[in-house]
Amino acid sequence: MKTEILKALQDSKEYLSGQELCDRFQVSRTAVWKVINQLREEGYIIEAKNKAGYRLISSPDLLTTNEVRSKKTTTWTGCQVVCMEKVDSTNNEVKRLSDEGAPHGTLVIAESQTAGKGRRGRVWASPERKAIYMSLLLKPEFAPDKASMLTLVMAISTAKAIEDVTKMQAMIKWPNDIVVNKKKIVGILTEMNMEADYIKNVIIGIGINVNQQEFPEEISQTASSLFIEGGESYSRTELIWKTMEYFEKYYALFLQKTDLSLLQEEYEQHLINLGKQVRVLDPKGEFNGIAKGIRPTGELVVEREDGNYEKIYAGEVSVRGVYGYV
Ligand code: BTN
Repeated sequence: MKTEILKALQDSKEYLSGQELCDRFQVSRTAVWKVINQLREEGYIIEAKNKAGYRLISSPDLLTTNEVRSKKTTTWTGCQVVCMEKVDSTNNEVKRLSDEGAPHGTLVIAESQTAGKGRRGRVWASPERKAIYMSLLLKPEFAPDKASMLTLVMAISTAKAIEDVTKMQAMIKWPNDIVVNKKKIVGILTEMNMEADYIKNVIIGIGINVNQQEFPEEISQTASSLFIEGGESYSRTELIWKTMEYFEKYYALFLQKTDLSLLQEEYEQHLINLGKQVRVLDPKGEFNGIAKGIRPTGELVVEREDGNYEKIYAGEVSVRGVYGYV
């Protein structure tokens, strides 16, 4: 009921009378009054005017279940939303929930992580309240070898969401880092669990640096936040749902062919490496080349200096700019 009353207040430009809320939600005056007070304790500023009723003045930038659910704009992503103050890793929490039967589309969001995971066993620093740490549960029916492409589907979705919300250009560093002004803003970690030879679940974890005001010296050359690059704070809730809205759109395109062919153009338009010199850090031997684009199955195509084309698989190989991160 709290989410419903909050939504009613958010949707209404006028004052909403206590009686109207009672009638609409079939509850007592005292129940409405209790909910209003709970919301105030969570940081909502709600004006109460004699005879007129209640009016929402401002919302806190907190990722509480009520706040996030009340702004949901999607069809199936976030069909279940779990918001937590602290967790080891949202990817781990989704795995636990999936094992307990959570449905396809479940979304876990945390204000901080004590063991945030990055790619290749790295740590994803997860200080509280400024960033987004979220993971989406998928229970797809396609073959396991298709799952790695979902990271690219999420990368283009996140880039588009950032562009809509911040009006800044967001580019993709293949396969799935999002950069603004050549600095990393988003990291994506996709994990798959199998049973026999089929997919039990795929968990896509997304970390977005939103409102951090500074970064440790060691990483400030390559990492940044939307606040630092744009000079203003952005609504994390809006970014979460915009990302999910785009994911629904691009995932549907992906499912049509179970590959990226219908998204390839959009992805390549955002590919920061496109047509650029890159250094491929392959454990079997590093080399330089020009990034030509992606294949419908997600590999990066690089033209070597001898003119040969090479397919680069994400995973152990990483790709850099010749002079630095991009
Ligand atoms: C990277 O190394 O670039 C990937 C970072 C992924 C971080 C996100 S934050 C939410 C989710 N939970 C985790 O433990 N990791 C991912």
